[in-house]
Amino acid sequence: MTRRSIILIGGEGYIGTVVRNFFLKKKFKVNSIDNVIYKQSLKIDKSNKNFKFIKYDFANKKIFNFLDKLDHENLIVLGSIVGDPITKKYPDITKKINLEATERLLKYALKKGFRKIIFVSTCSNYGIFDKNSLAKENSRLNPKSLYAKTKVKIEKKLLKIVKKGNSEITILRFATAFGLSDRMRFDLTINQFVREIYLNKKIEVYDPYTWRPYCHVKDFANIIFQIVSKENVKRSRCEIFNAGSSKNNFNKMMLINKIKKYIKNFKIVLQNDSADQRDYKVNFSKIKKIYGFKKITSIDEGIKEILKELKKGKFKKLSNYKDRLGNYRIY
Ligand SMILES: NC(=O)c1ccc[n+]([C@@H]2O[C@H](COP(=O)([O-])OP(=O)(O)OC[C@H]3O[C@@H](n4cnc5c(N)ncnc54)[C@H](O)[C@@H]3O)[C@@H](O)[C@H]2O)c1
Repeated sequence: MTRRSIILIGGEGYIGTVVRNFFLKKKFKVNSIDNVIYKQSLKIDKSNKNFKFIKYDFANKKIFNFLDKLDHENLIVLGSIVGDPITKKYPDITKKINLEATERLLKYALKKGFRKIIFVSTCSNYGIFDKNSLAKENSRLNPKSLYAKTKVKIEKKLLKIVKKGNSEITILRFATAFGLSDRMRFDLTINQFVREIYLNKKIEVYDPYTWRPYCHVKDFANIIFQIVSKENVKRSRCEIFNAGSSKNNFNKMMLINKIKKYIKNFKIVLQNDSADQRDYKVNFSKIKKIYGFKKITSIDEGIKEILKELKKGKFKKLSNYKDRLGNYRIY
């Protein structure tokens, strides 16, 4: 059995494709399991012998038949119904995947004794947080959407059942992602703002003074890679980490002001009272201290790389893409 292999659930998603490419570059064997739930188009290099894509729904119990045949080294669970609007639109599917199937999968992994198990959760779990402080891992959770509620429930379940195994378990509460990926999502704030401002010269900003932390997709890949590959790290067997950088806490107007440096003369329409009331700043010092992340990609770098693609004419018409480059409709 090799120590250089991962099973990636949700490996063909926005963050998943970046994670799989990162591990492939590091010469890991990658088994990506994804049912391509949005009919997103895939960019798969079939010539890479280290890569195996298995199109499968992990809510189907038969998944364990072929998981049994793979290396039980590292399991990374990114697969999920992701985001407030889509989970609101499909509550039953969300509960089936984010709760029932995820719990079954994690129990299986513990029983099989995977060396490392990483479950990806979200900073949305903090919901609305005290304006004057930064949420830490042990701060009170205040999930507002079905999406965040399912993540909180699984975190709690996992903390209860971990005692049963020996695997190292990491729960990562990701900040809001931005940046380029093989599977783009323009339903995420920074990506959406840059695209709309560039193409329409106009942007509607809902609840402009609400705060959130942001993190580039490739930094998430690096964070996961460090956790999988570092040995003898001083930490307990099961740990929760906020994943991102404290430097990247911003409110939406601050993001707009950053974009202004690169795109001139656009109209801003401010709106209040959107359905999404999330407002939180997050402290990421724990992951920095334990895993020593030094360089985290700035928002400016993310804005510039998306603009570069837009200027080449990419991502212009969302209707040209089956998934509309976002989590809008489940097939
Ligand atoms: N994007 C963000 O800003 C963000 C922020 C915090 C946390 N996260 C977490 O990161 C993870 C990845 O998010 P993302 O932005 O890449 O979302 P995404 O929707 O692009 O990716 C999720 C992937 O999971 C797959 N999937 C869903 N149900 C499945 C099933 N039953 N069987 C197999 N595959 C299935 C989808 O096809 C998709 O490829 C999620 O767990 C999400 O909660 C994301």
